[in-house]
Amino acid sequence: MPKLIKKLAVLTSGGDSPGMNAAIRSVVRTCAYHNIQCIGVYRGYEGLIEGDFKEMDARSVRGIINKGGTILKSARSKEFRTKEGRQKAHKHLIENNVDGLVVIGGDGSFTGALIFNQEFGFPVMGIPGTIDNDIFGTSHTLGFDTALNTVVDAIDKIRDTASSHNRLFFIEVMGRDAGHIALNTGVAGGAEEILIPEEDLGMERLVDSLNRSRKTGKTSSIVVVAEGDKIGKNIFELKDYVDQNMEGYDVRVSVLGHMQRGGPPSCFDRVLASRMGVKAVESLLEGKTNFMVGLLNSKMELTPLDKAIKGKTKINLELLRVSDIMST
Ligand code: F6P
Repeated sequence: MPKLIKKLAVLTSGGDSPGMNAAIRSVVRTCAYHNIQCIGVYRGYEGLIEGDFKEMDARSVRGIINKGGTILKSARSKEFRTKEGRQKAHKHLIENNVDGLVVIGGDGSFTGALIFNQEFGFPVMGIPGTIDNDIFGTSHTLGFDTALNTVVDAIDKIRDTASSHNRLFFIEVMGRDAGHIALNTGVAGGAEEILIPEEDLGMERLVDSLNRSRKTGKTSSIVVVAEGDKIGKNIFELKDYVDQNMEGYDVRVSVLGHMQRGGPPSCFDRVLASRMGVKAVESLLEGKTNFMVGLLNSKMELTPLDKAIKGKTKINLELLRVSDIMST
């Protein structure tokens, strides 16, 4: 028989993403619905180590479903990677009579949660929150959809100036290890080329392709580059190469940066966050532990945390082909 859960804790960890607040709200209100207590932990695992907790009731999460960032703040904790750090965290949870922990974050945060469970047998449940969409076991991570809309809006605006000045723009989008943001926004923004870490186009082929586009009558171009793409050392090296090897284009670089992580969550992310929070709390109440909740084939499903961490999300090859055809 699993231990009866009377009190849960929730924290946000790693890079913030739009929808984290909506997920906190959902966790807190699901606890209230089931008459169990909930505490919020500030600054992720840092706050867990320091015992920086706050009791949360249904009313304490009003007015946050539409807010970007995270009211609980976030951090990347070095100390939680040490056994001593995790021992302190465990002590605070026990002292506060907490029976389970919901971690909203990315794969680094889930690795911490898993080790914590293995050392202390403490029940943990993950909610995937990162704009990069690079977590196995869910078609969408929290914040991905909002970031896509933010990036497409930026591409549309840059295209106005690109076409006014007959320019070629390299636009760098986030995605340290994954090209999901670049691929989707490249297609939606009508990019001529999309450069992602999963596929190495090579500088020469890029220039050939841009030259071909010019010959078909294009006077301006957008190339969307994922931050983690390996084609050049960085996007500025890419610009220099194209400057030197292509005539007649005025080349510019735009790095979108952290604005991609902010802003009000989209409708999709708010609904997803609400569903994930309910599933995470109710799974813990059913005695489940070491899982991540995720969206698979439109349903809420559980994936073991170790699989979510180690599994590789594949790039959508069909979308890659669509993007090739669209840039004809
Ligand atoms: O949230 C993931 C991510 O957006 C990556 O794409 C990016 O490399 C990273 O965060 C940068 O985050 P920070 O500046 O917080 O280290």
